[in-house]
Amino acid sequence: MISVVRGMRDLFGAELRAWQRAEEVFRSMSAAFGYEELRTPILEHTELFARGVGQETDIVGKEMYSFEDRGGDSVTLRPEMTAAIVRAAIEHNFVRHSPTTRIWYAGPQFRYERPQKGRYRQFHQYGAECLGSPHPEADVEIISLAYNVLATIGVTKFTLEVNTLGNATSRAAYREALVTYLRANVERLTEDSRRRLERNPLRVLDSKDEQDKPVIAEAPKLSDYLDVESRQHFEAVRLMLDVAGIPYVHNPLLVRGLDYYCHTVFEFTTTELGTQNAIGGGGRYDPLFSLIGGADTPAVGFSLGIERVMMLLEQERGEWGAEKGIDVFAISIGDAARLPLRLISLRLRRQGYSVVEDLQRRSVKAQMRDADKHGARYTITMGDDELAQGTVVVKNMATGEQQSVADTNVEQFLTQL
Ligand code: HAM
Repeated sequence: MISVVRGMRDLFGAELRAWQRAEEVFRSMSAAFGYEELRTPILEHTELFARGVGQETDIVGKEMYSFEDRGGDSVTLRPEMTAAIVRAAIEHNFVRHSPTTRIWYAGPQFRYERPQKGRYRQFHQYGAECLGSPHPEADVEIISLAYNVLATIGVTKFTLEVNTLGNATSRAAYREALVTYLRANVERLTEDSRRRLERNPLRVLDSKDEQDKPVIAEAPKLSDYLDVESRQHFEAVRLMLDVAGIPYVHNPLLVRGLDYYCHTVFEFTTTELGTQNAIGGGGRYDPLFSLIGGADTPAVGFSLGIERVMMLLEQERGEWGAEKGIDVFAISIGDAARLPLRLISLRLRRQGYSVVEDLQRRSVKAQMRDADKHGARYTITMGDDELAQGTVVVKNMATGEQQSVADTNVEQFLTQL
């Protein structure tokens, strides 16, 4: 048997229906905040992520699905969306046309990670990017959109963690102090952290390893290296979050794994899903446009991991909670009624009703069971008698009530129910 590729999943049934409901929330909440959808290709030039996400990150260093296409170009299955959105924004001059450009997206991403619960090689993100504003209110708008999406989907067991990486000057000063300190304590660090120290020292702060924790606890604090501008930006973000009634905790060790961030960074974390505790994250990424070759443009955004959000939802509810349902199941008795009933079904569908017919020519009892399985709200039944009289029997599946209705009148009858 040929099975699905490791780290990838088929989506169907109740789980998929629950996803579709979440997708409705992505769409409607994004629209409520004035965000427009953008769809970019799944393949991009490898260079986009190498430059945008950063050579030294785990994503670019070891997780990308990159290959040469038949023309010899190196292309990559996108591991994240932000670099692709910025590429498209530069290519189509979005920000010149609209100084604040608001974009949302949803779709599959690919990272060659070790698969485990909540971690896949093909996973999905919903996210939004606010391009063009350097001000803290843009950071808060983005966080607020993410927060409202999560709340509307119905998950509650998560924490919003926020931190600031400051501006480039603050970060450079801090990086130097951190590297000096970590080098002096390199003996006490794990192998992983030693490697990070050389490639991406701020990421050492991210380590969850017990061995690293005492070293991290005594490390210089980024907050001590923030200049006035950086402090003011972060204080404004915190104040506006308070005013908006969005609960958060300040985690001074939150640095995020991608290179393009500055100022505000944030993550939605949960203790419900084991080691894969981030259901989403984001931050401000003012340096990214120029890294990819565009004009300097301030920007901020987030992505939610849809698998993880849905796992949390299922865990909190104890089920997917997305019932299957159709409006009408059409039941024919005998051969003669089959075709006329089919025509009524077609008519109903054109009116917007969902109608399912039996295609197995089964007994009435079997068709009734099928109607139940489909979660039909009504059945319409036609046999030889009804055919002769020009009627159908409409049954309300919830109450069991049934009534004979003229076949030309079914739509009107259903609208009255
Ligand atoms: P990220 O933190 O790499 O950020 O990914 C965002 C979310 O995607 C994670 O919090 C997690 O829920 C989900 N995720 C990541 N990798 C996997 C995986 N292998 N399996 C399942 N879920 C996963 C970004 O991607 C940035 N582009 C976010 C952003 C947008 N920053 C600014 N704008």
